Amino acid sequence: MSKIVILTGAGISAESGIETFRAEDGLWAQHRVEDVATPEGFARNPELVVSFYNARRKQAAEVSPNAAHKALARLEQLYAGQVIVVTQNVDDLHEKGGSQNVMHMHGALKSALCAACDHRWPAPMVMAPGDICPKCSAPAARPDIVWFGEMPYEMDAIFDHLAEADIFAAIGTSGNVYPAAGFVAEARSNGAHTIELNLERSAVGNQFAEHRTGPATRTVTDWVDELLGAKTPTRPGFR
Ligand code: APR
Repeated sequence: MSKIVILTGAGISAESGIETFRAEDGLWAQHRVEDVATPEGFARNPELVVSFYNARRKQAAEVSPNAAHKALARLEQLYAGQVIVVTQNVDDLHEKGGSQNVMHMHGALKSALCAACDHRWPAPMVMAPGDICPKCSAPAARPDIVWFGEMPYEMDAIFDHLAEADIFAAIGTSGNVYPAAGFVAEARSNGAHTIELNLERSAVGNQFAEHRTGPATRTVTDWVDELLGAKTPTRPGFR
């Protein structure tokens, strides 16, 4: 059975109301990455970092999955092969939209991590610096987010999936951050058909065999309908 590996980025959640990172009014226009998304920033000012993620956790709890999230869940449910979603996003909109095979390579807002013993537990809506770890009782709780300079999660499993992918799709990601930006090259080298669904060409757009341009709620829905045979294919790559 054929296998589809799908990488998603902030763009798939944009139409749900969550701002992306690198848009002109995006998160990195409002906050310095080194202040809120690095271990050094957390050590320097844990209150600032914890409140940044508290605000994002609250926002993520208030928004809903959009048609693109739901289309991927439909694909996972109805496609005869295997569908894996590897997301850079830390919101839970894929799960709320019905996806089950979701790998959060950059962590998740709904998870808390103990910096002392590596224990993970469901994060409270509001975390505070020095929260106690329920397992080792150290005052070492932190957001379970992969910060710049830290190793993304599940990389071995992700590369195993890329080795077996027949189709690799990247949805709503700018291709600026590795290792995720290198997945298309990995999938191509393993013979996968590669497709980018985005408002515009990403930084690695030239490495994709196929592009679908437009908002994810339209392009992803159309793409999934074609894969499920509900629509006649409009482009090569769907035989
Ligand atoms: N439909 C499809 N694509 C969209 C939409 C939309 N409605 N809105 C925006 N996009 C695209 C943009 O064109 C851009 O290519 O989504 C992408 C968002 O890019 P970024 O803001 O860079 O987000 P992302 O690629 O997910 O960032 C990767 O960088 O800062 C780190 O850890 C953070 O996971 C994040 C990583």
